[in-house]
Amino acid sequence: MNNKEKADEYFSKNKSKIKDSDRPVYHFTPDIGWMNDPNGFSYFNGEYHLFYQYNPYDIKWGPMHWGHAKTRDFVNWDRLPVALAPDDEIKGQCFSGTAITDNDKHILVYTVHSNDKEEQTVEIGDGVNYKAVSDKPVIGIDKLPKGFGGVDFRDPKIWKEDNVYYCIASAKNDRGFGSILLFESKDLLEWKYVGILFENDGKYGKMWECPDFFKLGNKYVLVISVMGMQARKRKYFNGHQVIYFVGTYDKSSYKFIPNGRGKTFDFGFDFYAPQSLYAGGRTLSVAWLHDWSNDLTLDGAKWCGQTTFPRELKLEGNDIYQMPAGELESHYKNKYHTSFILNRNKEYIDNDLNSRTARFDFDIENIDADKLTLFLAANDEYNSFIKINMKKKTLKFSRRFSGLCKDAIDERKIDIDICDGQLSLSVLVDRFSIEIFVNKGKEVLTSRIYTPLDANEIRFLADGKLKIDVSKNEIE
Ligand code: FRU
Repeated sequence: MNNKEKADEYFSKNKSKIKDSDRPVYHFTPDIGWMNDPNGFSYFNGEYHLFYQYNPYDIKWGPMHWGHAKTRDFVNWDRLPVALAPDDEIKGQCFSGTAITDNDKHILVYTVHSNDKEEQTVEIGDGVNYKAVSDKPVIGIDKLPKGFGGVDFRDPKIWKEDNVYYCIASAKNDRGFGSILLFESKDLLEWKYVGILFENDGKYGKMWECPDFFKLGNKYVLVISVMGMQARKRKYFNGHQVIYFVGTYDKSSYKFIPNGRGKTFDFGFDFYAPQSLYAGGRTLSVAWLHDWSNDLTLDGAKWCGQTTFPRELKLEGNDIYQMPAGELESHYKNKYHTSFILNRNKEYIDNDLNSRTARFDFDIENIDADKLTLFLAANDEYNSFIKINMKKKTLKFSRRFSGLCKDAIDERKIDIDICDGQLSLSVLVDRFSIEIFVNKGKEVLTSRIYTPLDANEIRFLADGKLKIDVSKNEIE
């Protein structure tokens, strides 16, 4: 039995140990065990495929496989056999990578990781079974330009243009910083290094991971998952962080030229390694709803790690706007809409708004308040709150009282737009997460919570008058 079969057998023997009620309702989780980055997010034969960094045997990171699932609506997923497993053939772990559809072929590219080097491999398959195009990695460390070691050389992103395949990967240079290297190939077997697409000038952390590069509107976007970012004025924060740049791509010199500084992709505590997909005329993105810095594994759980609900990305100027993909709407039930005036220092609760698995849309119009607090996933004991300072135009998210099982980063404040006292918020609440979309997704904050499920109220409190309009759509 090979390692893929072993992993699938382990799943079959243990799957009954996880009840559906122990999982999120509409966020993807591994069938059993641990997941980190989403991988190979692609559209193949009329279905969306998602692979993921997967250790079936534990709820901690371990020998990396690629788990595999497919869906039509991002809520109901079909588990597929493990696509890649570390084994004797490839002699290493299967680290992150991407996929494309090329006619009837599903092409995966990923990193083979061993202790002393990282190299890129291509496999081709039919949506279930995949086979390497060569018994050796096709973008080996021999392809690296001068100044790069090969110990950190990973997370390839592939695309095809004018019959040429292109692939970028992150590599650490001799100064310890991440660079995005670009390679090209006509046949997926022979790859040539063509240049540095973009490099870290030291302003954006150290090593970069999981680069993503795509056209959005008439511009190009480069997304990087940064290790060791340094906080700066509510724009960036410490640790692992996802940054995007909007700019142009000079194909003749293989250079990406950003229009300005990098921006934070998501201000929450748990967002990393996003991957995009262009399909059906829209650009979607999915990320790991988790973070390396916060060890928040649920005691006794049989799974760990989930993805964001896929988001549709749009560009306005040099800003990316992100909102949940429209597929969610077909799962709405128990719709409820209300509007009310919130009075000074009087807590407002409407029990018809109670839910732990819903999308809430709030339209807020200030009358004479300075501060508004929305308590989510709340009861008398627990809550996560959004505190808006209408005057200073800031939003603070706190999960300090959410029932976290361990010490973790729990508060963050950001700057937001409030024009004429108006603000809109859309919030996805699921059993283990809260995603907050501010002003149609100009700023987003994604975080895990581990709050008991009976904390399902929304409470409102302000120091003055505000008009609030809320819609609730429960998600089954
Ligand atoms: C990012 C990452 C990738 C790597 C993978 C290993 O979260 O560190 O760079 O390929 O996870 O699981």
